Amino acid sequence: MKDRYRNDGNRSRESFNKDWKFFLGDEPNAKNTVFNDANWRKLTLPHDWSIEGKFDEKNPAKPEGGGLPTGIAWYRKDFIAPANFENRITTIEFDGVYKNSEVYINGVYLGKRPFGYISFSYELSKHLKPGKNTIAVKVDNSAQPDSRWYSGSGIYRNVWLTSTAKVAVAHWGLSVNPELSSDLNTVVVKINANIFNRSNKSQTVTLANSIFDEEGKLLKKGNAISLKLDTSNKNISTELSFKNPILWSVDNPKQYKLVTEISLRGKVIDRQLTLFGVRSFNFDAQKGFSLNGKSMKIQGVCLHHDLGALGAAVNTRAMERQLEIMKKMGVNAIRTAHNPPAPEFLDLCDKMGFLVIDEAFDMWAKRKNKFDYHLDFPEWHKRDLEAMVKRDRNHPSIILWSIGNEIREQFDSMGIALTKELVSIVKNLDQTRQVISALTETVAAKNFIYQADALDIYGLNYNHKKYKDFPTNYPKVKFLGTETTSALQTRGFYDTADTIRRWPKDGKTKFTEGNKEFAASAYDNVSAYWGSTHEETLKEAKKYDHVSGIFVWTGFDYLGEPLPYPWPARSSYFGIVDLAGFPKDSYYLYQSEWTDKPVLHILPHWNWEKGKSVEVWAYYNNADEVELYLNGKSLGKKSKQGEEMHVMWNVPFEAGTIKAISRKSGKDVLVREVKTAGAPAKIELIADRKNIKADGKDLSFLTVRVLDKDGNLVPNANNLVNFKVEGEGFIAGVDNGYQASLEPFKANYRKAFNGLCLAIIQAKEKAGTIKITATADGLQGSSVLLTTK
Ligand code: GAL
Repeated sequence: MKDRYRNDGNRSRESFNKDWKFFLGDEPNAKNTVFNDANWRKLTLPHDWSIEGKFDEKNPAKPEGGGLPTGIAWYRKDFIAPANFENRITTIEFDGVYKNSEVYINGVYLGKRPFGYISFSYELSKHLKPGKNTIAVKVDNSAQPDSRWYSGSGIYRNVWLTSTAKVAVAHWGLSVNPELSSDLNTVVVKINANIFNRSNKSQTVTLANSIFDEEGKLLKKGNAISLKLDTSNKNISTELSFKNPILWSVDNPKQYKLVTEISLRGKVIDRQLTLFGVRSFNFDAQKGFSLNGKSMKIQGVCLHHDLGALGAAVNTRAMERQLEIMKKMGVNAIRTAHNPPAPEFLDLCDKMGFLVIDEAFDMWAKRKNKFDYHLDFPEWHKRDLEAMVKRDRNHPSIILWSIGNEIREQFDSMGIALTKELVSIVKNLDQTRQVISALTETVAAKNFIYQADALDIYGLNYNHKKYKDFPTNYPKVKFLGTETTSALQTRGFYDTADTIRRWPKDGKTKFTEGNKEFAASAYDNVSAYWGSTHEETLKEAKKYDHVSGIFVWTGFDYLGEPLPYPWPARSSYFGIVDLAGFPKDSYYLYQSEWTDKPVLHILPHWNWEKGKSVEVWAYYNNADEVELYLNGKSLGKKSKQGEEMHVMWNVPFEAGTIKAISRKSGKDVLVREVKTAGAPAKIELIADRKNIKADGKDLSFLTVRVLDKDGNLVPNANNLVNFKVEGEGFIAGVDNGYQASLEPFKANYRKAFNGLCLAIIQAKEKAGTIKITATADGLQGSSVLLTTK
């Protein structure tokens, strides 16, 4: 993983995250070298100042933007230029700054980058001086409303400092494109290197490429190519082939390593390592998607970039945990809604085996909000889109480039020209993937993006009832459900209804149907009117081969867009998993449909008023039937009929134990039981990882469960839990997954919500132990010991 960035042979690429100074507010003089920032806060990037703020309905980003503060801020960092900088090329690289960053080096303006989701770099070489140098960055996220969801504010992704020789591979200058033969036995790795010579004289160098397997064994060494370089950049294409490659797939995401070396008079002056994967894929209008020649359904989710209580501030372990939770659910694909993700996210997808739709924009020239990217689109879209493709084109996980989500130009004849232009920008840089856009208008004649006739695949959002007739309406068109469902749920909250609820019921009527808890039922029975329940779409997607797959909106709840509720709701209800990372019940529906591992899950909890008729649902697979028992008495066997994806019993409540047994050919497969819980009595504290790295970044996610005296989860417990942390770690955030909680995420306390809450513990850089103690009034506390190395 690290190898993608750890280059040697005279090239250094170092993290530039430490020892920044931060000031929340505008301070125009802060761009100057001479400026007193002694009183500014010292911090390590990535940093998101919004997530540290207070929820307030009046914050300009509005509840739709997460209800947290935005504004203007400055960052400054003093540093010593890399060794021998006079004879080298030095570049600063920002993976993402939200937004409108303006960067200065020693008081000199380097440039502005409006788009908050794109990576960009500036060359520093000629501005550097011996001794102290100063970088200053202004970030302006003050013009609101901007985003339709929570964006975060600040230098929220990693920053890097790269130093190379004067002859080297350019930034994002390497494209590695492994072409697999149709019998899957031979791969031709096509390599294109863009090389610069900044030495002011022509130079003759050699370029050599070698391929290694994951274990580091040399597989193929190319002949050194001699190159005469004048002082402009030069593109060199070459190829290496080898036999019997281990194919990259979602189950076995094997990668190879390409080492590219430039040598001058026999000495290596630049070396770059690039990971790549060998795979082929295909979309077919009748048969759907296949990877490496094998049919497979894309089982995808859409994810926004926030990491719950950590906000937008990138943390690799937090992203890895999200992906682990998705993987266990059976997810094999992610759509990075609606913008390019952090590079580390794509590294994780490569390594863990996810297919990716890398998406560029949520709007083009026509706005969704007054101050969103439409203002910058005319001037910046080409550079931003090129940056996305150049940065990301070597990731095996990426199969599709999306040029936009629900773009307003669908309904405007401008859509034709813009679609053509954007598709050609992408295809000029990469012809190995397909280009898609997530559309909503299903009448071809009315959809100008479709009319452009430039997209490879029809990406449809919602409209699951139209899946069936798609081949008739769009003969020979390849089809993917780019966004589906938008069901609404609150973890652990259950409310039965005779009919499925659409909240809101249409685009006109004011939403009044909600409850005082600001919650949506976790039975799969509520959705936005344009969407469906989880089962409704899943059934349609499963039925038709021409549906390549779906991307459910969304894998996790995210900050902002708290539809359908007003304030204090401030995060979304769409997730299959809540904001804290605790699965809602539908998680097990997907697991039962999308994985082969045996699943039996029953809902709801078993604490109700005596006599109430309770719907008990079971999701299961790998079994013929499920039998339900209340306090040892059978309530009968049920099997899923036809297209059904769950079974259900109406059970008059009686305290005790509700138990389900799934059976195959008469043999028990799984047993699940839920007991009526008594009063909260104690805390259980569970760490997802007890040994973490002492690298200042690694995290342990601690789940708090409020239990009764017999160890049953108390399903409505809301005790206030206090955390004490001793040793080499600190609290990075707390959460409970409740969409309308206005408690801060940066705190050493959290109320449990429906029995659970979460503390995220971050390691310091010194190895040692971390002891976390969780206490609550009247409950027996608990502690856990972590080790950091
Ligand atoms: C879609 C949109 C998403 C999100 C979703 C909520 O139309 O693409 O960004 O807003 O609706 O249901």
